Amino acid sequence: MSANKKKILINTGGGDAPGLNGVIRSATLAALERGWEVWGIKHGYRGMFESDGLLRLDRDAVRGIAHLGGTVLGTANRGDPFYFPTHVTGQSKAIPTDRADELVERFKSGGFDALIAIGGDGSMTIANKLMERGLPMIVGVPKTIDNDVAGTDVTFGYDTAVSIATEALDRLHTTTESHERVMVVEVMGRHAGWIAIASGLAGGADAILIPEIDFRSERVAQKILQRERRGRRFSIIVVAEGANPLGGDVAVKAEGDEFRRAPVLGGIAERLASELGRLTGKETRSIVLGHLLRGGHPSSADRLLALRFGVAAVSEIAGGDQSGMVAMKGGEVRLVPIEEAAGKTRTVPTDRGILLSARELGICFGDEPESSFATS
Ligand code: F6P
Repeated sequence: MSANKKKILINTGGGDAPGLNGVIRSATLAALERGWEVWGIKHGYRGMFESDGLLRLDRDAVRGIAHLGGTVLGTANRGDPFYFPTHVTGQSKAIPTDRADELVERFKSGGFDALIAIGGDGSMTIANKLMERGLPMIVGVPKTIDNDVAGTDVTFGYDTAVSIATEALDRLHTTTESHERVMVVEVMGRHAGWIAIASGLAGGADAILIPEIDFRSERVAQKILQRERRGRRFSIIVVAEGANPLGGDVAVKAEGDEFRRAPVLGGIAERLASELGRLTGKETRSIVLGHLLRGGHPSSADRLLALRFGVAAVSEIAGGDQSGMVAMKGGEVRLVPIEEAAGKTRTVPTDRGILLSARELGICFGDEPESSFATS
């Protein structure tokens, strides 16, 4: 390709998030406006190893998709090219295989100039390693409902997840109050409590348990009983899937695997509900919001963020050959080094911001001194 006319490739990797299609659309349109050629990889990096695994993205391919959830390219959680599941003749089970060189070779032989890698911390780690293997230019775009990517103030997908969780809490409030029950609501987020704290605060939870603060069930039970003494005979507890009981373990549904698939978290709400029932004598129920938080239309805030990130990624590619990740910093989109995000987790600060506001409101985090529940 000439210095001005570029050929770019777009990848969506890891768990999907509302807004992915917005990035695909805006990056494609911005690139087409410059006269470039755009392709997408189907099903995460898998498409790089399949003969028909690349999809030409023209105006028709991205028409009317910005408001749709999911990704038109498809994605995969077992798609790390350095540990790619590969079937070897004579073996029934796939084995993890380093196919990064093959990927870089296909990129170069296809005449591509740059890759837009839309993903979370895992995808940024892969991007970093691909550059070390010779992939000339990568611009990362931070995606995840968990909002835990370092180097950016926010990721797209998060606002939608918080809105869905908040609406669920509103609905659970009415039925929980009618029955004078305790409702324990589990939300996704992996090892960061962003979704839990934001939705819990917006949705009026009485206790919010997050991975950043080890909790004691006894304290949560005391909060419930304190509310009873105040005439509030129901309570809503939001628990992040990665929350940790003091001296206990995070609830894991399935261990990680040799393909670098992270452990699947989940189950803490059910465990906690039975413990709170025992400690308070109250009828308790649990619910896991799970993938509901990831599905469906992106919120308008996520659409806008996705569109801005897509455009920014293309203008970074146009501007030179400096790889990086587009990030939102203090209201401005800018490029940060991919290493700022690779392999890191941005957690909720416990000494400032939203967490302190929640504490001021008397929301329980399960780490309060026992004396704080002594009086009515
Ligand atoms: O990272 C996004 C996320 O939805 C996490 O909140 C959750 O732990 C994980 O993905 C679930 O992954 P999967 O859809 O593969 O079960």
